[in-house]
Amino acid sequence: MSDRNIEEIIEVKRDGGRHTEADIRRLVSGYVAGDVPDYQMSAWLMAVVLRDLDHEETVWLTDAMVRSGRTVDLSAIPGVKVDKHSTGGVGDKTTLALAPMVAACGVPVAKMSGRGLGHTGGTLDKLESIPGFSVMMDSAAFARQVCEIGVAVIAQSPDIDPADKKMYALRDVTGTVPSIPLIVGSIISKKVAGGADAIVLDVKVGSGAFMKTIEEARVLAYELTRTGEAMGKRVVALLTDMDQPLGCAVGNALEVAEAFAAVRGEGPEDLLQECLALGSRMLVFSGAARNADDGRTQLVRAIESGRAADKAREWVAAQGGDPGVVDDASLLPRAEHTRVVAAHEHGWVAHFDAAAVGRAAMAMGAGRASMTDTIDASAGLVLAAKVGDRVEDGAPLATLHAASEALLDAGEERFRNAIVMSEHRVQARDLVLEQEDDRKARS
Ligand code: URA
Repeated sequence: MSDRNIEEIIEVKRDGGRHTEADIRRLVSGYVAGDVPDYQMSAWLMAVVLRDLDHEETVWLTDAMVRSGRTVDLSAIPGVKVDKHSTGGVGDKTTLALAPMVAACGVPVAKMSGRGLGHTGGTLDKLESIPGFSVMMDSAAFARQVCEIGVAVIAQSPDIDPADKKMYALRDVTGTVPSIPLIVGSIISKKVAGGADAIVLDVKVGSGAFMKTIEEARVLAYELTRTGEAMGKRVVALLTDMDQPLGCAVGNALEVAEAFAAVRGEGPEDLLQECLALGSRMLVFSGAARNADDGRTQLVRAIESGRAADKAREWVAAQGGDPGVVDDASLLPRAEHTRVVAAHEHGWVAHFDAAAVGRAAMAMGAGRASMTDTIDASAGLVLAAKVGDRVEDGAPLATLHAASEALLDAGEERFRNAIVMSEHRVQARDLVLEQEDDRKARS
């Protein structure tokens, strides 16, 4: 145990000093046990935001967080268990599309996901918009479903990584989310405690992401990779664009419909590219593909042959949902009111404030500002134009969905402020901005 008390541990970091492993363990275990109050943890978190942790301290933090709870045992599921994690964005329905695509290639997908908070959505909320779908399952049933049909996506149980749950909630209200070591500890500890052998990370970059610039995202990707590897996992990180929502739909049921369209081969191009980029790495880690190109080919075959859609129906049915939603979006909750937002000028869509688009959806009921808020599964918006598209005066920019005209008013005002038009032609940037090979070549 550390020979420093909590106050001394905070002071070490406040003054730019270095922790011992015992300091970090005392702090994290004390916090989870309730012996370290929120105000002391907040002070330490802010000291970390301002003074940073080095690599070794970050690994100790991650390890202490993993040890704060139970670790999921996925050994009953044969093969390499590969997980995927996104650092969070707007319209990010990748897991919903990717899980059945990867499972259709014979690779088990045993995934625990979270709920949305703030402008970013959460996979569990999206899945729960499917009538009957349940995300609650005990670990034996979870492993059984993965063995039987190759895919399950459930809520993380409260005894897994409780340190992250408590610390993340505190960071959210104390201005201490944007810190590379704290983000790394949070993400890697969850994945390690969730039982993954290998992790594919989607580091989002841009106006709707934590990392606004590619330079910041590179540092995060590097630290996530080294910390994951130090914890004995194989890790790969891709940098992907979040300067506009992924795909067109933002909002729970709307995103489910778009994700299943992608599974049927009818989704938007950027979502498909994202699924192929991340899914191919998952196939390589599992040993099912020789390289990323081979992985992409297998995923495209699974989509084109209809096997991915078959797997999606099987998955939805196994978790109590109506499998008809895979083919028929009208079975999902639908908003009472819709409104087309039309352009007031002609030009090219130059830029979105993607976080503000997320907040527009939230204002219509699609998201929650605090964990106790309820959400409207049918609310949200569907973009009719994306960056680089030419739009004529009066042409649709988006369709808004909400439970009342007043909510549509709130959404429209925010949405209009989130889109920037240009008189000049604009080129959208690539979806996959950087892959691990680009970074290796640069270093
Ligand atoms: N996602 C997480 O899981 N944790 C963070 O700290 C940030 C993004």
